[in-house]
Amino acid sequence: MSTHPLGASVTAALERRIGELLAEMTITEKIGQMRQVDVAEAGDPRELHEAIRAGRIGSVLNAVDVASVNELQRMAVRRSRLGIPLLIGRDVIHGFRTVFPIPLGQAATWSPGLVREGAKIAAHEAASTGVNWTFAPMIDISRDPRWGRIAESFGEDPYLTGVLGTAMVKGFQGDDLAGIGSIAACAKHFAGYGASESGRDYNTTNIPENELRNVYLVPFKAAIDAGVATVMASFSELDGVPASGNRFLMTGILRDEWQFDGFVVSDWGSIEQLTVHGFAASEKEAAYEAASAGVNMEMASRAYDRYLAGLVETGRVSLQQIDSMVSDILRTKFRLGLFENPFTDPSSYAAIANGHNLQVAKQAALQSVVLLENRNNALPLARDALRSLAVIGPLADAPRDQLGTWIFDGDPAISQTPLSAIRKLVGDGVAVNYARAMENSRSRSLDGFAAAIDAAKASDAVVVFLGEESILSGEARSRAGIDLPGSQADLVRVLKATGKPLVAVILAGRPLTLGNVLDEVDALLYAWHPGTMGGPAIAELLFGIESPSGKLPVTFPRVVGQVPVYYAHKNTGKPATPETFVHIDEVHARQSSSGMTSSHLDAGFEPLYPFGFGRSYTRFSYSEIEVSAAQLGPDEPLTVRALVRNDGDVEADEIVQLYVRDLVGSVTRPVKELKRFERVRLKAGERRAVSFRLEPGDLAFHGRDMKLKTEPGDFHVWIGGSSAADLRAEFTIAEFTIVGE
Ligand code: NOJ
Repeated sequence: MSTHPLGASVTAALERRIGELLAEMTITEKIGQMRQVDVAEAGDPRELHEAIRAGRIGSVLNAVDVASVNELQRMAVRRSRLGIPLLIGRDVIHGFRTVFPIPLGQAATWSPGLVREGAKIAAHEAASTGVNWTFAPMIDISRDPRWGRIAESFGEDPYLTGVLGTAMVKGFQGDDLAGIGSIAACAKHFAGYGASESGRDYNTTNIPENELRNVYLVPFKAAIDAGVATVMASFSELDGVPASGNRFLMTGILRDEWQFDGFVVSDWGSIEQLTVHGFAASEKEAAYEAASAGVNMEMASRAYDRYLAGLVETGRVSLQQIDSMVSDILRTKFRLGLFENPFTDPSSYAAIANGHNLQVAKQAALQSVVLLENRNNALPLARDALRSLAVIGPLADAPRDQLGTWIFDGDPAISQTPLSAIRKLVGDGVAVNYARAMENSRSRSLDGFAAAIDAAKASDAVVVFLGEESILSGEARSRAGIDLPGSQADLVRVLKATGKPLVAVILAGRPLTLGNVLDEVDALLYAWHPGTMGGPAIAELLFGIESPSGKLPVTFPRVVGQVPVYYAHKNTGKPATPETFVHIDEVHARQSSSGMTSSHLDAGFEPLYPFGFGRSYTRFSYSEIEVSAAQLGPDEPLTVRALVRNDGDVEADEIVQLYVRDLVGSVTRPVKELKRFERVRLKAGERRAVSFRLEPGDLAFHGRDMKLKTEPGDFHVWIGGSSAADLRAEFTIAEFTIVGE
């Protein structure tokens, strides 16, 4: 439960204040608190002001001009009967003016510290305009790269998403929600949105409760434990019940099981959409279902505004239910200190997009880039040996596209692009021959190719910037095919034909299938959408000022037909092995299940790159894994240790990862599960012991009875540099332990 750090008396005092205020409120004012209005759609500002003065609005979204925000707050605080301040919501997803890498890119850093610092900076910049609530982090487990919103996620893994989601919550909310620059966070989308059928946004999900609890809910529980102030209901339905009318999720799990005492906001129009889902016969019934489920605030649509009072009058929704839902909203407003400090004075904040903010954005971009290929050490480029460099491609100098999706307040004018950063870094000594080649990533025209070929021929080496423009990922930007769009593969082929060393840098919002270009390039850096400072970060990596250290937060498929493909899959009764796999070209006529295993005839059973994978300009080796005990008693922790060594000749960061497998369970367990990780920096030749402590609860899962338990039995544990790690130890747990008992 998110109680105040100072304890019970503060909590009691807060509840008293809420009770006193509630006692003063009319039903109209109560329902007003449950309504959120988009300023852009509100029409005439005078009407908006009038509604606020009448206590009919509890929150607005998308107001970011500090003078108008202060004016809205003045209407609420000084001109309404009870003076209740407004929540001012905004999608501050991966930065405000200073834009950090998209969340999927931030996940590739495996750096909770950087994620937290980035969110703190974003919160300060946003708060200086009067925003006090962001709709982030998005912690939907995302295992389908067709889904455009994978860009907003931390990827496929519940543990990594939980750790980074928590870091983001702490960054936004600070140590004190009422402190200057703290804003309320919102864990979204509750729950299961990432499982939308075939990656089509807003689509149906069917998630068995066991998988829901062991996979999709894990990061949400972590966010609640970290004190996240609010939760957003998903657009999707879960097993036939849309999230915005889902009592099992909103009350059963959130309130009853997890004791959440913040509030739930619907997604945009998702309450009135209950009628479109075919779950409610009218908008009034939609209001009934959502209120009965426990959705406190309605975003954008007006079902609560129009029908809740009537539903209370006829006794279908109890006043007690309304009071409880309004209390949750008021509690959040009190915790934010809005009653004491409703107005914003921008001069009490550090400058927006200041040097420190840009430096952190650069560091995040630097750590997010993943080196996927580096044949014959094509990278890093040797600055001293180069006389000329071709910089080619539609994303080399695209200040807006490098920012990625959801950057309402990002400023492309301050973006530092790869082209400008490379020019700056190499100085006058190296001629940079730039050719855009394609209008944008989707262009089919080959008109720009001749200039690109000329630029390549005139240069010692070629760096081509490919991928997806920002608008191809994010909400409602799902793709059925995830190859490089447009003529990009053709561009790579013609550049390869010049015979020059060819490095590809991909900027994209999702994993792409790279099969049609991979063999053509000498090296490939995956840079996601890296944000404002993507250019300098990429330039420093290209020239070896820093070694790439990002690791994939999501599995890369070979072909889209493999999706979903993720490392923590189940073993099945017939797991594939290299020995049993039969390729389509060799398949014989005999039809039998004997000796056959789980794979695709044409794609095998392995992904293109596994979760946790990423190369470096050095090599790391792992040895001497040890466990502190081969047999664990109940409630005993376990320490696992291994040696990691930098075998190359440059200093670099490595992300050391620990995975476990519970060999036999009351329900089957994944073949590997990430349980710990740490970013370490090792000098050339340096060797270091890295150790991780696992608590007994870390091995618990929801079994057949849905209780969270650690089950006895044998476990494997690995430490290594990706989910393909093979350095393994074993241990046994002797007894059941039920978490929380
Ligand atoms: C819809 C999106 O699903 C949600 O993530 C976002 O926060 C809201 N719109 C508000 O813009």
